[in-house]
Amino acid sequence: MKILVTGGAGFIGSHFVRTLLAGGYPPFADSTVVVLDKLTYAGNLANLDPVRDHPAFTFVEGDILDVRLVDELLSEADAVVHFAAESHVDRSILGAADFVMTNVVGTQTLLDASLRHDLERFVHVSTDEVYGSIDSGSWPESHPLEPNSPYSASKASSDLIARSYARTHGLDVVITRCSNNYGPYQFPEKVIPLFVTNLIDGLPVPLYGDGLNMRDWLHVDDHCRGIALVLDRGRPGEVYNIGGGTELSNRELTERLRAGSLRAASAGRHLRCRSPTRPSTWSPRSMSCSAYTWAWTRFDDINGHYRR
Ligand SMILES: NC(=O)c1ccc[n+]([C@@H]2O[C@H](COP(=O)([O-])OP(=O)(O)OC[C@H]3O[C@@H](n4cnc5c(N)ncnc54)[C@H](O)[C@@H]3O)[C@@H](O)[C@H]2O)c1
Repeated sequence: MKILVTGGAGFIGSHFVRTLLAGGYPPFADSTVVVLDKLTYAGNLANLDPVRDHPAFTFVEGDILDVRLVDELLSEADAVVHFAAESHVDRSILGAADFVMTNVVGTQTLLDASLRHDLERFVHVSTDEVYGSIDSGSWPESHPLEPNSPYSASKASSDLIARSYARTHGLDVVITRCSNNYGPYQFPEKVIPLFVTNLIDGLPVPLYGDGLNMRDWLHVDDHCRGIALVLDRGRPGEVYNIGGGTELSNRELTERLRAGSLRAASAGRHLRCRSPTRPSTWSPRSMSCSAYTWAWTRFDDINGHYRR
């Protein structure tokens, strides 16, 4: 199968490509992969270094909004796995235009070209953030979309556009909605790498509001296995939630990261900790030098972030 992977130089897309070309998804062992990526601030060619010389791999720098380029690439493809997106909630609150262009119009551009070239399968990688907030429990795939941020609204819009191409045109579209990912190669503005690097640098970690916002967490490898499964066996027109079943408040997550940093430090590094409840006091922990510190900074919660 010839697979076009959009956004394949980003965090999740590059994991998918590296794993696929390492033989991690047996149904696609003989596949070729073309990555189309604009290399925005979030895209990094180094994420693809391990497969750069693989004979089944091609990289194309370009924009999913470029109709001619997309048309040319899709004329050669059997399937698309569509990761490319503007993906950071906070950036979408500062300015939504890029989010609407890339996430909505970019998706529509890919879908139109897929129709023209009679594509076998289009996997649209979406997010559970399209559902919005919930007080308890979890969402079924049939739950109405009630996105809260411009990011999640743009993803919800692209979900609905993708769904409409399945319903109206019979295009073989499958949509995945995954919870929060963590793992290697994640851009350091996202919460886990940001908190880990802040802890390493002895800086406070930023927590919104009371830190009790709940998130479900999933390793990127598990997410990508889910996407490969959907690419292989998903039912046309279907939506698949992909979750990890590890729900943590941001405060619990922070505690776990701090504990991990402490363990790493006690394995050979030195640290000292600052109490989050008494930020002005330092409590040295049996070690002398301050490679690691611990404190958090409260930020007012902002619209678009949701409690669960
Ligand atoms: N990170 C998560 O926790 C998470 C969870 C669920 C779903 N998702 C979804 O998974 C997908 C990938 O997320 P990620 O965390 O890897 O994002 P990312 O920001 O790390 O990567 C996005 C990639 O898309 C590329 N890109 C952006 N605009 C482009 C354009 N116009 N044309 C071509 N390429 C472009 C970037 O250069 C980058 O390589 C997104 O669609 C996101 O909504 C992410």
